[in-house]
Amino acid sequence: MAGSILLTGASSGIGRALAYEMAKKGYALALTSRKTDVLNEIRDDIEKRYHPPALVVRGLDVTDYDDVFAAVDEMAEALGGLDIVFANAGIGLGEKVGRGDFEKARRTIEVNLIGAIATVDAAAAYFLKQGSGHIVGTSSVAAFRGMPRSSAYSASKAGLAIYLEAVRAEMYRKHIDVTVLYPGYIDTPLNRMLPSRPFLISVEKGAAIIARLIEKKVKSATVPVFPWNLVGPLLKMLPTGVISRM
Ligand SMILES: NC(=O)c1ccc[n+]([C@@H]2O[C@H](COP(=O)([O-])OP(=O)(O)OC[C@H]3O[C@@H](n4cnc5c(N)ncnc54)[C@H](OP(=O)(O)O)[C@@H]3O)[C@@H](O)[C@H]2O)c1
Repeated sequence: MAGSILLTGASSGIGRALAYEMAKKGYALALTSRKTDVLNEIRDDIEKRYHPPALVVRGLDVTDYDDVFAAVDEMAEALGGLDIVFANAGIGLGEKVGRGDFEKARRTIEVNLIGAIATVDAAAAYFLKQGSGHIVGTSSVAAFRGMPRSSAYSASKAGLAIYLEAVRAEMYRKHIDVTVLYPGYIDTPLNRMLPSRPFLISVEKGAAIIARLIEKKVKSATVPVFPWNLVGPLLKMLPTGVISRM
C-alpha cells in the first residue's frame, strides 16, 4: 500500500483533485469538509475508478476546533493508522480594510489560520503517539507579500507558514516531516472571480505537482515550482505603488 492521507477541504478545488491523484497512486484516503453530500459523491466516484485500499469521508468544519481533534483520531482509527495529514481547507473572501469587511477578515483568520493550526496540532498529537507522520499545509504566494484586498488572507497564509516552520523545528528528530506549500494561481472556485490570475495552471496539474512534492517530503515549495520560486521572492521587492495596483 502507498500509504494513507487525511485531507481537509476535500470537497472542491485542490483538495478534491488531490484526492483523485492520491487514489490513483494507491493511497488510502480520509476526506473531510463541511459538504458531506459532495464528499459522498466523490467517494463513490473514486471507489468506482481507482478501488482505493480504504476510503472514509466525514463532515468537518475546521472552525469547530474540538471536532478537528476528534476527526483526526476517528479517521486514523478507521484507516488503521495515518501517514499524512494535509491542512488544506481555506477561504478567500476578498476583504477590504476600513470598509466594513471586518467579519470577512475574522472568518478568514478563523478558517485559514486557526482551523489549520487545529488540524496540525491534532495531527502532531496523533503522529507523536504513532512515532511517525507527515504534516502538509497550504500557504500561498500571498504569504510572500501582503496583497491589497486580501490583507487577512495574506496574514493567514504568512501566519500558517511561520507556524509550520516552528512545528518543523519542534518535531525535529521525532520522525515527523513538515511540508509548506505556496501555490500561485491554481484554477479553482476560490479565485475564479479575480480579474487577473498570472501563471494560472489547471487544478489537475496543480494536484499532480502537489502529490509529487508531498511524496518527496520537500520542506517547502511554490506550486508550480517555476516561475513562482523566482517571482515569489521578487514580490517582496516590488514598490508599494506597483503592489497597490494588483
Ligand atoms: N487555488 C489557488 O490558486 C490557491 C492559491 C494559494 C493557496 N490556495 C489555498 O489552497 C486551499 C484550497 O483552496 P482551493 O483553491 O482548492 O479552494 P476551493 O475550491 O474553494 O476549496 C476550498 C475547500 O475548503 C473547504 N472549506 C472551506 N471552509 C471550510 C471550513 N470552515 N471547514 C472545513 N472545510 C472548509 C471547502 O469545503 P466545504 O465548503 O465543503 O467545507 C472546500 O473543499 C486553501 O487553503 C487556499 O487558500 C489556493
